[in-house]
Amino acid sequence: MNSIVCLDDLEKYSKRMLGKSVYDYYATGANSEQTLHENVESFQRIRLCPQLLKDVSERHLSTTILGRKLSFPVAIAPTAMHSLAHPEGEIATAKAAASLQSGMILSSWSTTSMEDVISASPNCLHWFQLYIVKDRRLTETIVRRAEKAGYKALVVTVDTPVVGIRLADLRNGFKVDSSIRLPNLEHENSSNTKGDLYGPIQISPAVTWKDVGWLKTITKLPIVLKGILSGSDAELAVENGVAGIIVSNHGGRQLDGVLGTIDALPEVVEAVKGSDVEVYLDGGVRKGTDVLKALALGARAVFIGRPVLWGLAYKGEEGVKMVLEMLKNEFSTAMALSGCTNAQEIPKSVIRYLPNHASKL
Ligand code: FNR
Ligand code: LAC
Repeated sequence: MNSIVCLDDLEKYSKRMLGKSVYDYYATGANSEQTLHENVESFQRIRLCPQLLKDVSERHLSTTILGRKLSFPVAIAPTAMHSLAHPEGEIATAKAAASLQSGMILSSWSTTSMEDVISASPNCLHWFQLYIVKDRRLTETIVRRAEKAGYKALVVTVDTPVVGIRLADLRNGFKVDSSIRLPNLEHENSSNTKGDLYGPIQISPAVTWKDVGWLKTITKLPIVLKGILSGSDAELAVENGVAGIIVSNHGGRQLDGVLGTIDALPEVVEAVKGSDVEVYLDGGVRKGTDVLKALALGARAVFIGRPVLWGLAYKGEEGVKMVLEMLKNEFSTAMALSGCTNAQEIPKSVIRYLPNHASKL
């Protein structure tokens, strides 16, 4: 009997595998976790409406993000400290992504050096996620290292001027202490101060749009902003010359009470219309139909966070491969059943809103 046939099964399994404080660090959100739940529930509120009697025997799942190919429109969101889930950590994750011609955004809080991750998985599409830290010299060092190592984009997380209040971590006394190495943030003379609960390296709360301009003077990498939720910020992102936007609320781990990302997506897509800025989404993607809904509402691709950690905890590289394979199969089936044959042309007409969304049509 096969007890693992979808992403939710993997979460149940890994809850038993992982210690409570690690599982809680991975699974929980900020404050009352309203947004954590909203990320999943807002997908469920959207209904599908298939276009039938279409030949769906051939379906093209691939797409490109910033000009580079993905075998299907799902890639891996940056999540911290994979070695808490499996000893091979981020290398296992990246190898799994490579085996399915997918992509991975490596977290700044990776427990594996950015160089080791990329050299272990040359066939994976690698982007690097950056926190602009208080020590600007360290920030510049990290950016130049990522560009030199071969990362193809810089994903700047903009929703974390301070780290959200995660009540489970407080209750568990979860700490990123010196027993956990974050090799991408170490620098011989950085002004490392004993950090707060989450790490010795302090993220700067003073980052502004000017810093996006500064980044463009120190790297040629395309810049993607992660955490944008409003049309007005999306317009500023276009004005500041970014290449992409990830509509994200950090998996409900930052400002609790914001929209679920699928509900925030339409306003951002509308705001960048007419520009070359690509829009992606993460948060609450758990099924192939979630991928279909996000693409129908204008996302070019989606990124997954927690499901990858559950796969990692279950069986390392093999487990992450299972996550990607299950999602790819579910997405392909959802396309067939809704009359779609090309992942790059999912029409908005395949989805319907419930009455309380009528105003959004
Ligand atoms: C994250 N996320 C995150 N984001 C980021 O920009 N840098 C980071 O280091 C991390 N770390 C991190 C750790 C853990 C345990 C989680 C769950 C999340 C947020 C992540 O990139 C993504 O936005 C969400 O995880 C997407 O939501 P789902 O797929 O987890 O529902
Ligand atoms: C988190 C930080 C690492 O969400 O982004 O835990």
